Amino acid sequence: MAAVSVCFFLFFSVLFCSSRAKFEPNWSSLDSRPLPEWFDQAKFGIFIHWGVFSVPSFGSEWFWWYWQKQKLQPYVDFMKKNYPPDFQYQDFAPQFTAEFFDAKEWTDIFASSGAKYIVLTTKHHEGFTLWGSKNSWNWNSVDVGPKRDLVHEMATALRANSDLRLGLYHSLFEWFNPLFEQDAANVFKTNLFPTSKTLPELYELITKYKPEVLWSDGDGDAPDSYWNSTGFLAWLYNDSPVRDTVVTNDRWGYGTICKHGGFFTCSDRYLPGHLMKRKWENCMTLDRKSWGYRRHAVLKDYMTIQELVTVRERDSL
Ligand SMILES: *[C@@H]1O[C@H](CO)[C@@H](O)[C@H](O)[C@H]1NC(C)=O
Ligand SMILES: *[C@@H]1O[C@H](CO)[C@@H](O)[C@H](O)[C@H]1NC(C)=O
Repeated sequence: MAAVSVCFFLFFSVLFCSSRAKFEPNWSSLDSRPLPEWFDQAKFGIFIHWGVFSVPSFGSEWFWWYWQKQKLQPYVDFMKKNYPPDFQYQDFAPQFTAEFFDAKEWTDIFASSGAKYIVLTTKHHEGFTLWGSKNSWNWNSVDVGPKRDLVHEMATALRANSDLRLGLYHSLFEWFNPLFEQDAANVFKTNLFPTSKTLPELYELITKYKPEVLWSDGDGDAPDSYWNSTGFLAWLYNDSPVRDTVVTNDRWGYGTICKHGGFFTCSDRYLPGHLMKRKWENCMTLDRKSWGYRRHAVLKDYMTIQELVTVRERDSL
């Protein structure tokens, strides 16, 4: 009897495997994938920008870039006034302690808002990972700062205490990563950075945390061929542990936005005003000037509930 039922099981699993559509690593194939049913019903999610930039919490999550690359006066002045002259951006990391972070408490707040999914920045353009990435040596929340795997804590609490779906934001490029700078100097004819950093981290995020939204961002003006986005997405849709439920967006390389991928985000605060062929998401801030927390925000910088449900793409960041 036992042998018979094993055969039976194998027989069905073979049928099941062979009936699964395989996606090819090209956009016409990947774009044909329907969005999983749950996303069509979800309607409302919560986007969380959190990282080392939350320590200065000044200006925006683009703090490092505005301060050291663009040298914008308010940022330069802020640093001059509050920090010693040799203070580096990296010196903020030990001060990122997350001592009040309680993932269960966050989950309760998210759930009571009516949201059906969250999207957490696991790595913004600064490159600091909120999990113990093997490819981000000494620039991650397990080695420095909180000494905790924040992505793991959030994923675990969310699943244990709610029906919310887990979404992870991930930046393809990193502003100041020397390997990315080297590839950029080679006009992206080399791909040192995606093969040694971006792609290993993407595979790690998916296999470890099994997110159901993968919110990609930050193409660094490099084409999707440089990032091997179609190769990665074919794996994600065909073979990954979340192949049946995962949703992605459209930020997979220069020129893919509003054209290819899963749901369309187009521009920040996108509100097309007409019926679209493709599913879309209006990604939106509460503070009209920043995605990350700003200590110097005043009440009128925050959108009212009325504005949140009606606002168009009028405030540019
Ligand atoms: C893309 O994938 C489709 C299968 O959906 C295949 O028919 C087509 O030949 C592929 N195109 C290219 C350019 O590889
Ligand atoms: C792109 O991704 C696919 C799927 O993971 C992989 O087979 C292929 O080797 C990758 N190509 C490069 C150039 O990394």
